[in-house]
Amino acid sequence: MVKFLGNYVDGKWVETGRTFANINPVNGSKVCDVSEADQATVDQAVKGARAAMAGEWGSMSTVDRSALGLQAFDQLVTTRRSIRRFTDRPVSKKLLLEILDIAGRAPSNSNMQPWRVYVVGGTAKDKLAQALSDAHQQSPADYQPERPMYAPNLPAPYSDRLQLFGRVFYGALGIDRADMEARGRYIARNLIFFDAPIAAFFTVDRRMEVNSWFDCGLFAQTFMLAAKARGLDTCAQIFLTKYHTVVRRHLPIDETQIIACGMSIGYADTSSVEYTIDIPRIPVNEFASIVGLE
Ligand SMILES: Cc1cc2nc3c(=O)[nH]c(=O)nc-3n(C[C@H](O)[C@H](O)[C@H](O)COP(=O)(O)O)c2cc1C
Repeated sequence: MVKFLGNYVDGKWVETGRTFANINPVNGSKVCDVSEADQATVDQAVKGARAAMAGEWGSMSTVDRSALGLQAFDQLVTTRRSIRRFTDRPVSKKLLLEILDIAGRAPSNSNMQPWRVYVVGGTAKDKLAQALSDAHQQSPADYQPERPMYAPNLPAPYSDRLQLFGRVFYGALGIDRADMEARGRYIARNLIFFDAPIAAFFTVDRRMEVNSWFDCGLFAQTFMLAAKARGLDTCAQIFLTKYHTVVRRHLPIDETQIIACGMSIGYADTSSVEYTIDIPRIPVNEFASIVGLE
């Protein structure tokens, strides 16, 4: 259910800070809050619409326009990237709640919704980042994830893909494959959430079976896409599960929950090298088998 209706003007969400309630005339109940546009926003919207109508958009049929709407989804999926350098621009609680509301629409086995998410920002996030960095610096061997991050003796082709990721990623940053110190320094950036203003931890009830982890993954991906649709970027972080005991000291995650993944969330530093990195994917014929279709 939509709780808040914003103004999307000329490719950007514009907020004036004022809202009004949209009332259902049938029963007088509030449907949602609507962002109130001021004169400047309206003028900007009219200007943007005129410019759009003068261009390709104006000469398109409604069918073609709705097809573009569908392509916007593809665009969203293909432009989502794991972002590892964020600006210090804060993320509002209102925006976060909107994203969580959409993420909660993710499907799950028998609608069990076995996920939970713990979000942390502000000084609480800074303290957690400090504690994680201290633990990592002082005695990393003392910390182990509750579930291994990788399969033991990672088999091919996964080991090859992991290596390819390393080559593409560290290659773009100019970090030599053999320079373990530089790689280690970069990996430690996980612990400060890549400078993101907020972090999240996705958990699953430990009494559940492995299929509930599938549900949690669907929830996390829906979260990442809902964030991306609102101009926010993310980086899922399994690495943080290594320090689950530290995380638990800072967040109200009780023992019934197992941390499946951490995540950094914020506005990407679009001027960074990291922002330009595009990790390749295998082609469809390498992951899909199709039977009985011509
Ligand atoms: C479950 C999961 C865990 C991940 N853990 C980490 C992590 O600990 N640190 C990190 O920098 N990236 C992590 N990533 C990001 C992946 O490296 C990234 O999704 C992959 O290389 C594909 O790149 P893209 O997300 O930019 O398309 C993780 C991604 C997923 C889905």
